[in-house]
Amino acid sequence: MTQPLRIAIAGLGTVGTGIVRMVQTHGDKMLARSGREIRIVAVSARSRGKDRGVKLDAFAWEDDPVALARRDDVDLIVEVMGGEDGPAKVLTETALAAGKHVVTANKAMMARHGQALAELAEANDAALRYEAAVAGGIPIMKALTEGLAGNGIERVMGVMNGTCNYILTQMEETGADYEDVLAAAQQLGYAEADPAFDVGGIDAAHKLALLAATAFGTRVDFDGVTIEGIEHISLTDITQARELGYKVKLLGVARMSDEGLEQRMQPVLVPARSSIGQLEGVTNLVVVEGDFVGRTVFTGPGAGEGPTASAIMGDVMDIARGLRIPAFGQPAHSLSAANRAASAGAASHYLRFTLTDAPGTLARIAQILADEGISIDRMRQNDHDGTNVPVLIVTHDCLRSNLDAALSRIAASDVSLAPPVALRIEQV
Ligand SMILES: NC(=O)c1ccc[n+]([C@@H]2O[C@H](COP(=O)([O-])OP(=O)(O)OC[C@H]3O[C@@H](n4cnc5c(N)ncnc54)[C@H](OP(=O)(O)O)[C@@H]3O)[C@@H](O)[C@H]2O)c1
Repeated sequence: MTQPLRIAIAGLGTVGTGIVRMVQTHGDKMLARSGREIRIVAVSARSRGKDRGVKLDAFAWEDDPVALARRDDVDLIVEVMGGEDGPAKVLTETALAAGKHVVTANKAMMARHGQALAELAEANDAALRYEAAVAGGIPIMKALTEGLAGNGIERVMGVMNGTCNYILTQMEETGADYEDVLAAAQQLGYAEADPAFDVGGIDAAHKLALLAATAFGTRVDFDGVTIEGIEHISLTDITQARELGYKVKLLGVARMSDEGLEQRMQPVLVPARSSIGQLEGVTNLVVVEGDFVGRTVFTGPGAGEGPTASAIMGDVMDIARGLRIPAFGQPAHSLSAANRAASAGAASHYLRFTLTDAPGTLARIAQILADEGISIDRMRQNDHDGTNVPVLIVTHDCLRSNLDAALSRIAASDVSLAPPVALRIEQV
């Protein structure tokens, strides 16, 4: 009889209790499918007395999560405490150094320390897996490292923060402002009390950096991600974008070209009828474009107890089966340093100006854009009140640096009454 895979869980919050529940519900299926019993032997959290709604009395308790990694009766650590550094990192390092496998949902830790941790895992013949860290329940890391592993990957894109997508969709559906929708999302539990990590794009950028490293065989380069959040997206732009046939999405794009690796997490306009444009609420979506496979689209729940536990257990079962795939799909030492692209590729942009209602104003704007090499594809002048003229422009492809030069000249001119708005239109 094969020995059970003995696991310890560090963190018994949303994800940790979900894992306990899943093993207690489907232990027999896991045994049948992996050929090994998956046995929880020990757990750790901050507060031992807290009622967590799951039965824990059969498991040993450790006040110090790092002590889990020192136990002789543990083969694998599930790290679901969170935090970029601190106990999560110490626990992961201690476990890997002891040759114990680690499965984690911690995107912040992996985006910052993934390379060093992957090297440590390989040096000690241990597995390090983090499916749950990227797009929650969607098995996208398995797709990249297994099903799509024979392809050259050209581009990876994703809507990977449910909070942001929920806020943007609700703004469009209800006509409410950003602040009101955010407050409602917090009440419903879709947004954290401190939403900065989510709405600022950082959480999704962690995931993008992990996807990019795996897709392109580069060392994870979180500092190379250009990050812009959704805090400044106005209802006006969401409404105007819709009238032009677009939706506003917080989209991550990682692309490898002759210029190097481009990694961007930013609000962009996408065609309303595209799969990304149609994505509503907290659902996540990831697109992978490979040279042989073409375009593949993965969609599903990006967070929550069940989906995250599902991703964790997929990794645990792979390890139970004896499957060993390097953290980034190839040995850590073979990952190359990411050569950052100097700028994002050229793209069409949506521009919104608030201009003075005077003869020659539009000609001035068109001239400044032309001076910087930017040509206009479409222009629309909406109702005006005699003093303010709202003008929308869709440009042909242009570089953001040229656009920024034009926008600062326009903002400084006497025809502009409010700071211009510019959003990239992504070809998805
Ligand atoms: N929630 C999701 O939908 C989701 C999705 C994908 C990835 N993740 C990732 O999964 C991880 C866990 O998320 P979560 O939502 O489950 O968090 P959570 O509900 O806040 O739970 C965190 C758990 O870790 C324990 N903990 C924190 N610091 C500790 C310490 N120093 N020593 C011992 N235990 C400690 C807490 O103990 P107490 O309960 O005693 O306070 C709690 O049980 C994070 O890395 C997160 O980014 C979460």
